[in-house]
Amino acid sequence: MTLDLLDAINQRHTTNGYFLPDPVSLAHQHLLVKAAARAPSHFNSQPWRFILVDDAAIRTRIAEIGGNSMTQLMEEGRFFTRYRKYFRFSQAEMEERRDGIYIDKLPAPLRPFIKQVFSERATNILKRLGVAKMLGRDNTKLVQASPLLLVALLDKEEYKQDGDLSDFYCVLSLGMAIEHIWLLTTKLGMGIQFVSTPMEIPSAWAEIKQLLAVPEHLEMMAIYRLGYVPAEKARPKIDWQSDQRKPLSRFVYRNTCNTPEKDTD
Ligand SMILES: Cc1cc2nc3c(=O)[nH]c(=O)nc-3n(C[C@H](O)[C@H](O)[C@H](O)COP(=O)(O)O)c2cc1C
Repeated sequence: MTLDLLDAINQRHTTNGYFLPDPVSLAHQHLLVKAAARAPSHFNSQPWRFILVDDAAIRTRIAEIGGNSMTQLMEEGRFFTRYRKYFRFSQAEMEERRDGIYIDKLPAPLRPFIKQVFSERATNILKRLGVAKMLGRDNTKLVQASPLLLVALLDKEEYKQDGDLSDFYCVLSLGMAIEHIWLLTTKLGMGIQFVSTPMEIPSAWAEIKQLLAVPEHLEMMAIYRLGYVPAEKARPKIDWQSDQRKPLSRFVYRNTCNTPEKDTD
């Protein structure tokens, strides 16, 4: 598929739905991590490490841990209180704010709750209604059905976590390496999504590190699910939009921060 870089950037997005069950070819897996390795890093230190997880049993276990983490986060209400500020509740609010995510697809019984979901009371109602368990189960199925998991790590030789600049450099470099992968998935007809709920539960993250035999000298930083995207992209039961971007005037300045850039679009 010929796709120039700007198209790849503009078409890059997060895949919330199911991938095709087809295994990701070894050639594509290696293309993705070789593209990551072409990313810039301080003094070409290449502090990133990756695990390509296509083993079904390991993917299933990570999916279960991910789903259980989501249920726990939802039942404890932590997820809602922590990320409330990113949620938009109407298309109009989304167009006004031009950032955040708008959950525009929700099972009918849940729609009345969407705004209250951030209150303690609603969290208990959702718990009683078993919504948190349903979301967890759905998430487990989604991750389990993904043919490839990609785990990103940093070498602690560089990523010392002692507040030294090299920590920032490592995270920045890893971010750029992952963006290379993300952009290349667009060209390969693939999709990618963070599997981030286990990151919020230290015991879940520790269990995955053990499962993947992560050695002491490496820090596990993020997990992604990948696969080929179906032609007909069925939206999951609960789905959101996050395609808006701020206008220039809201994130760019001219010469000093006293002068926001003029919007051109
Ligand atoms: C650090 C980080 C954590 C993220 N965690 C999640 C996540 O848990 N689930 C998810 O679907 N997307 C996650 N995302 C993707 C963002 O939600 C997404 O990039 C943003 O909403 C813009 O949408 P787009 O990627 O489709 O352009 C994460 C992105 C970043 C950079």
